[in-house]
Amino acid sequence: MLHEAAKIDEMMPGQSKAVKIGEAEIALFYLNGQFYAVQNTCPHRGGPLAEGSLDEDGVVICPWHGYSFSVMTGDPYGFPYPIKTFPVKVEDGRVFVEVE
Ligand code: FES
Repeated sequence: MLHEAAKIDEMMPGQSKAVKIGEAEIALFYLNGQFYAVQNTCPHRGGPLAEGSLDEDGVVICPWHGYSFSVMTGDPYGFPYPIKTFPVKVEDGRVFVEVE
């Protein structure tokens, strides 16, 4: 099911935002004209990925202990478990995230 997570004009390039949709904690990232949604809770110890720093390749570094993850694919770097990604749709200036 699609849920509105943000308006396009409220986010600057390179910015991120934590959004709660139902029970799901989502980190929404805006990078190179695209939006990406992943789980906000780091699989290591639960750090807030939306508060991590994002590089130009879409890799976010968790602010707590520095493991990193691709916000595009969910792939982990230096950590054994990936993060969950969520489909994003942009329509009428609004960003929607698909959460079951
Ligand atoms: S909680 Fe994210 S690296 Fe430890």
